[in-house]
Amino acid sequence: MKSSTDGVIGDRRSYWRALTNSQRDGDAPIFDGAYTKSLLLAEKEFAPLYQIVFKILENTLVSELKLNREALSCNSKILDAINQTKALKIQRDWNLMTKLESSVLTLLRAHGFLPEILGIEFPINVRVAHGAPPAGYAETNYATDHLHSDLWAGEPSDIVHGLIYIDGDLLSTFMDLRDCPEALVSAIENYTGTYKEGFEIIRSCPAVSYTPQSGQLILFDGVCAHQTIRKGGNARISVDFRLRRSDPYFFLDERWNRERAPWSKYWYLPQVDSESFVDRCANELRMIAKTGNNDAYHARKRWIDQLGSAELARALDGKA
Ligand SMILES: [Fe+2]
Repeated sequence: MKSSTDGVIGDRRSYWRALTNSQRDGDAPIFDGAYTKSLLLAEKEFAPLYQIVFKILENTLVSELKLNREALSCNSKILDAINQTKALKIQRDWNLMTKLESSVLTLLRAHGFLPEILGIEFPINVRVAHGAPPAGYAETNYATDHLHSDLWAGEPSDIVHGLIYIDGDLLSTFMDLRDCPEALVSAIENYTGTYKEGFEIIRSCPAVSYTPQSGQLILFDGVCAHQTIRKGGNARISVDFRLRRSDPYFFLDERWNRERAPWSKYWYLPQVDSESFVDRCANELRMIAKTGNNDAYHARKRWIDQLGSAELARALDGKA
């Protein structure tokens, strides 16, 4: 049922109930809670995503650290090079980010994880979590090393998180996840302070017990508390993203382009695979145009224009 106030279809439980019916037969869950779900992807279906992530990591090491491509000839060398760093900013190659999204969506569709989903965070995040937090990071208000709900960072209330472990030291650097008791949902939704001070609200949320594995896909609701655990080992590589249960263009207010947690990162869930970033943009603009929401169309168009790519603007002129 569509709410008149925020464009959300269904209530928070509705998506999680719908998963039960939409999931592929034979998928054995690693865990299956009220607001959490996980399974292990088969090696063959996981391989394309794995390769794209390592291509992004390789390009990042070449561009950010000026490493020789020959020195990164296999994935273990890429991991070794990453472990020489203390922090790493992932290079945003938009075409590769488009491929990354297609690869993740193929997996989510195959397993029936997209009922009631209208939007997705784009681009998907490639995460390198180091064995120790970057200097000063753990003391900041929104450090993921504190138990928190992302709603407290200003993310939309209707998000569903996705995380896929790729490789690295998963037993030393991983996500601690808590399921959410129904009785705490509204307190978590309504809290607006820092992660540290919010701890009292979520301290009793039950921990989800699991051993992180390469190829493990985890979904959890925006109200679920989670934190990064770092036991001083090597880096972990994962991808993560947020899905939206409501129209990502319903709100176009000051949250759209703000610095922290901008809502402009939420796009429509693609209905077709895009070969390139130009196609991704053109498909998005077409989808928005169909809704008749002119403000949304112009907001997305401005966002694309702000990337400052004359080539992209020219290519889009002929497509959207
Ligand atoms: Fe988080």
